[in-house]
Amino acid sequence: MNERNINRSEEYWLAKARAGRIPVHVGIIMDGNGRWAQRRGLKRHEGHRAGVQTINRCLPAVIKLGIRHCTLFVFSTENWKRPQEEIQFLFGLITDYCRKHKDELIEHGVQVIPIGRWKQLPASAVRSIESVVRDTSEGSRLKLYLAINYGGRQEILDAAARLAKRLVSKGQAGFDGITQEDFADCLYTRGIPDPDLIIRTSGEKRISNFLLWQGAYSELVFTDVLWPDFEPVDLYKAVVEYSSRSRRFGDVTDRRG
Ligand code: IPE
Ligand code: IPE
Ligand code: MG
Repeated sequence: MNERNINRSEEYWLAKARAGRIPVHVGIIMDGNGRWAQRRGLKRHEGHRAGVQTINRCLPAVIKLGIRHCTLFVFSTENWKRPQEEIQFLFGLITDYCRKHKDELIEHGVQVIPIGRWKQLPASAVRSIESVVRDTSEGSRLKLYLAINYGGRQEILDAAARLAKRLVSKGQAGFDGITQEDFADCLYTRGIPDPDLIIRTSGEKRISNFLLWQGAYSELVFTDVLWPDFEPVDLYKAVVEYSSRSRRFGDVTDRRG
């Protein structure tokens, strides 16, 4: 396929996506970096490096669609099981990304917000994350949540502990009368709308501990495309698919009005 055809196809899917419903919050499980590299006879590292390029390529497309909240699954609480060398490489990439792309993020009006136990990363990574958070705090077009050392179950445990502490400090003995809103207010994602759409690349059809509470009614779109090969057109296609879904939330008709 030549450049012109690619552009035509991209334009077509962008227009189609824009004509439908745009999700307010999109979560992305960026999977398949290792397989992408292995298929090319490269080290897994190269797949992760290429995966960062995909983020750079796709963020403008997220903004173009008018999506206001986007969560990227960067490193899970289970990814500590990987070889030390790969983990250290990933932390290095996170550090570099925050440093090298800060100006671009500011320019595009992106506010970066980390979620998860990211403060457990090496000090240099933590510092670079803190710095990008501080310097992008005025960004108003897109809120970009980076799920780093994030696990849905861990988040729920942390929220339960936080809620219990709140109740104790208020002198409340039991959990009677606690609402879902009270609980959600103790999650890392406090105040953030639940994801309308969760995309997972690489053909795996599972959630892998991503936004467990928040994703209760998310529309799921799975694509075989490996994350380093993911293009804006794939995002537009996923949004078109989302738009065609009937979201009933337990009711008998679409509840989106
Ligand atoms: C996703 O790609 C990146 C992270 C989980 C950090 P993988 O590294 O999981 O790639 P595959 O699934 O092995 O191909
Ligand atoms: C999910 O991918 C985590 C991230 C994308 C950061 P994994 O590759 O870790 O998930 P599993 O092991 O295939 O479930
Ligand atoms: Mg994987």
